[in-house]
Amino acid sequence: MARTCLAVVLAAGDATRMKSSKSKVLHTVGNLPLIAHVTRAAATAGVNKVALVVGRDADLVTEAASAGLDVPVSPVLQTERKGTGHAVLMARDIITEGFDDVVVLYGDAPLINPESLVAATAERAKGADVVVLGFRAADPTGYGRLLERDGELVAIREHKEASIEELAVDFCNGGIITFSGSKAVGLLEAIGNDNAKGEFYLTDIVEIARSHGLKCIAIEAPEEDMMGCNTRAELAEIEQVWQTRARHGAMLSGVSMIDPSSVFLSHDTVLESDVKIEPNVWFGPGVKVGSGAVIHAFSHLEGADVGANATIGPFARLRPGTELAEKVKVGNFCEIKKAKVGAGAKVNHLSYVGDAVVGAGANIGAGTITCNYDGQNKHLTEIGAGAFIGSNSSLVAPVKIGDGAYVGSGSVVTMDVPDDALAIARVRQETKPGRARRLREKIAAIKALKKKM
Ligand code: UD1
Ligand code: MG
Repeated sequence: MARTCLAVVLAAGDATRMKSSKSKVLHTVGNLPLIAHVTRAAATAGVNKVALVVGRDADLVTEAASAGLDVPVSPVLQTERKGTGHAVLMARDIITEGFDDVVVLYGDAPLINPESLVAATAERAKGADVVVLGFRAADPTGYGRLLERDGELVAIREHKEASIEELAVDFCNGGIITFSGSKAVGLLEAIGNDNAKGEFYLTDIVEIARSHGLKCIAIEAPEEDMMGCNTRAELAEIEQVWQTRARHGAMLSGVSMIDPSSVFLSHDTVLESDVKIEPNVWFGPGVKVGSGAVIHAFSHLEGADVGANATIGPFARLRPGTELAEKVKVGNFCEIKKAKVGAGAKVNHLSYVGDAVVGAGANIGAGTITCNYDGQNKHLTEIGAGAFIGSNSSLVAPVKIGDGAYVGSGSVVTMDVPDDALAIARVRQETKPGRARRLREKIAAIKALKKKM
């Protein structure tokens, strides 16, 4: 029978060093809150339930932790921060529901690899009672040191409690500890707070377990996976690592990036194979790009579905609700918002298309604006298949341009245009032969007269 596992995610920190009006774990990496990265990793690793230890912003943190997750999340409140051991015990009632394994995770360490969690439960299945995920620290200052003997873990010594010899150990506690669900409460209740910080250290669980003849081991994970976030600077470092991984994953799945370091992805960005991305492109949440599409430099996409073989930019902005069919072209300095654009249609230069439906093969001339907002309401512009909108036209919504219709350049269209009709809505041109020469002579004469005076 498959093992059952409870994840206890600690997210009650007050995070003063973030200097923020909101809980640290609500800050984002890849446009997803830190806490959601952690709960999703736990879900991917196959945990059956998440006990979320919350303090500040409890409701928002719970919401962020559980959004889109198919594993139940139960919040438990830690009103006073008394240490990691105390924090885990807040979930006592959930722990006693009965799980084979309990794994403790930190809500502010979003880079954890689900495979490490699986590796830890595999060690539990093989007989270890406590499994600690460790890493070799480039600079171990501040971390708990993992003290091993004969292949077993004998203690985790917090930095403040460590002897000089122990401080020289570079194998450190990453914070992720997996232990026996049936023994959890007994072990946690035995933790005291007689130490340098006066806190209940979860890390004491190792020595307590050993005193009961239980087996503790440490397994190693990359230091990068354990990065925690305490300051905005650390948040940016974590973002860099996350972005590097996401870009790498995209490239391995068949996406070309000329300068990956300047392409920013979101947690849910979907890029199909043979998508090509030029430098300096930003993908906000909710973007999907179909195969063969090219995203030219300096484009900004958010909430947009880009069809196969479309070309976007340079300098294009796709806002939420954009749905572009295959082979659509959106060119430089164009903004598309909440608009469906049919296959092969072109919006190539300096246009705003918002709250609109554009038919297949339509050509939207340079500088076309859908005037969608009257100051209070948004209105729809419909442009038929194969329609041609002349440059510098304003389409005052609600308005409908029929299939195959033609709008003369510079028109301000306020009434519907039927299929195949030509609409010209601009002042008729007047041409006065010879008038320019006469005007020039008159201006010159006046100038000469003024000079004499
Ligand atoms: C902890 C470990 C240390 C390890 C390090 C890795 C202990 C005693 N020490 O130290 O061995 O090397 O993490 O980063 O566990 N939290 C609560 N409630 C509390 C206390 C903490 O929710 O009462 C949360 C914090 O918000 C944080 C996490 O638990 O997300 C860890 O707490 P923190 O104070 O950062 O522990 P460290 O001193 O860094
Ligand atoms: Mg810490």
